[in-house]
Amino acid sequence: MSGTREETARRRTFAIISHPDAGKTTLTEKLLLYGGAIQLAGAVKGKAAARHAVSDWMELEKQRGISITSSVLQFEYKGCCVNILDTPGHQDFSEDTYRTLMAADSAVMVIDAAKGIEPQTRKLFKIVAMRHIPIFTFINKMDREARSPYELTEELEKEFGIATYPMNWPIGSGYDFKGVYDRAEKQVLAYGERSRGQERIHAETIVADDTAALDEFIGEGLRRTLEDDIELIEGASSEFDPVAIRAGRLSPVFFGSALMNFGVEQFLDSFLELAAPPLARVADGAEVDPYDERFSAFVFKIQANMNKSHRDRIAFMRICSGRFERGKEYWHVQGGKSLRLAQPQQMMAEAREIIDEAYAGDIIGVFDPGIYSIGDTVCEKGMDVRFEGIPTFAPEHFAAVERVDTMKRKQFETGIKQIAQEGAIQIFHEPNSGLEEVIVGVVGVLQFEVLEYRLKAEYNVEVRRRALPYEYVRWIVSPDTDPSKLSLTGDTKWVRDFRGGDLLLFTGQWGIKWAEERNDGLLLREFGSN
Ligand code: G4P
Repeated sequence: MSGTREETARRRTFAIISHPDAGKTTLTEKLLLYGGAIQLAGAVKGKAAARHAVSDWMELEKQRGISITSSVLQFEYKGCCVNILDTPGHQDFSEDTYRTLMAADSAVMVIDAAKGIEPQTRKLFKIVAMRHIPIFTFINKMDREARSPYELTEELEKEFGIATYPMNWPIGSGYDFKGVYDRAEKQVLAYGERSRGQERIHAETIVADDTAALDEFIGEGLRRTLEDDIELIEGASSEFDPVAIRAGRLSPVFFGSALMNFGVEQFLDSFLELAAPPLARVADGAEVDPYDERFSAFVFKIQANMNKSHRDRIAFMRICSGRFERGKEYWHVQGGKSLRLAQPQQMMAEAREIIDEAYAGDIIGVFDPGIYSIGDTVCEKGMDVRFEGIPTFAPEHFAAVERVDTMKRKQFETGIKQIAQEGAIQIFHEPNSGLEEVIVGVVGVLQFEVLEYRLKAEYNVEVRRRALPYEYVRWIVSPDTDPSKLSLTGDTKWVRDFRGGDLLLFTGQWGIKWAEERNDGLLLREFGSN
């Protein structure tokens, strides 16, 4: 079945990361526009609004004007099958964003040219870098006043410890923005149309050694600056090295303006050429070859169904190898059961579609009657692999949550457990106590509101929440440690997660230091595992 191999090789699956407002949504939309997946920019937002109408608990999203969940968009372009994993773009932050990055094979980092690296770019970059996947940088908003391109690339190199390779170089910025010099083609892409283009435009080109034409377009002054810039970057920047790009050691940098449709086409073309096809994933300590004919996938995200009267959910799986066929029986490793994946869906650019087949690199959403947990493996019968767990990221905010109505014990427990299973929150409890009061940990504080809203809307339980002062959590990983005998500071709390793991909550770094120094053999780790 050579078709599977070819289909896999043409997949490109990536996530776009950025600090809010840098232009992630705009760039995503323009990639869809240039990819031919939508005809007019603006259609994606419209669609999202239409979806909101049917969603219920996402009412909260609407009220806050933010997007809480992330979706997957697929389109065909120049022989490639492109999957864009959209990550939530709001100020707040959830584990969903982290997990989505686990399902991608490359990342695109959007940076605002006037601002450079911002706090969330930093956070997200750390996660991406951990996976050694290719990282492409799009420096956006060149149509506005921008910082010097030298300064911006230097900042990336210094802060992130990654080499950069400018694929193009900007000529001016803001009012004086004239276009970019394309290093590979040795030509200038001229920035002309000053319109918020809804339609595709192709930039005019001028060959770099046509001095007269350049002088006419950008003026002699900018032409001379450009010549100096070219000399400098050709001499000083890193070598172009596709192997280093694939290994995540060298980031190709593109300057452009997503809003003005400028530089998007060049970016998409180069990106698809340089980005990695589906990468091998590790299961049981060994790599699973994406070209293995047998189907395997892992669950990286579970999303509550929009319809509150059905407590069903959608589990999103990243296919790691082989070909998925609708109706075929597969093996759910953690559940120890064979099953048929019901209603496998894929999110196309403009609609959700039931699909018949999918390949490594693709993301499918399947109906989940409550059997999956984040990190679970589904595969061909007899293959029986377990993909390495998606790390549980350390929550940074904690609260004690209890129900207002003491009669609603069952609803409270079911609700809070199911929401935790989806991975939206982490729950802990004091050892030897019941679920009267649960300690909830989240990566972003917005998740507290989501939790309260959903408990009320879906489980009819009202809760009281009390903020707790903890900021750090460490799992105890030394097997011989008895947590009840540890010497700890008074403000450190010992709790248990729902897999039975013991952990400590600290209010500051000093508490961690104290615990490590005063307890022989105690080993602490920042991440839990599934
Ligand atoms: P995000 O998803 O990263 O949060 O950013 P988003 O694309 O929503 O863009 C944030 C704001 O920046 C938007 O303006 C958007 O139009 C603008 N923007 C994005 N790319 C560019 C660019 O290349 N040049 C310029 N000048 N602006 C850009 P807004 O006023 O918040 O929204 P809107 O009213 O324009 O939709």
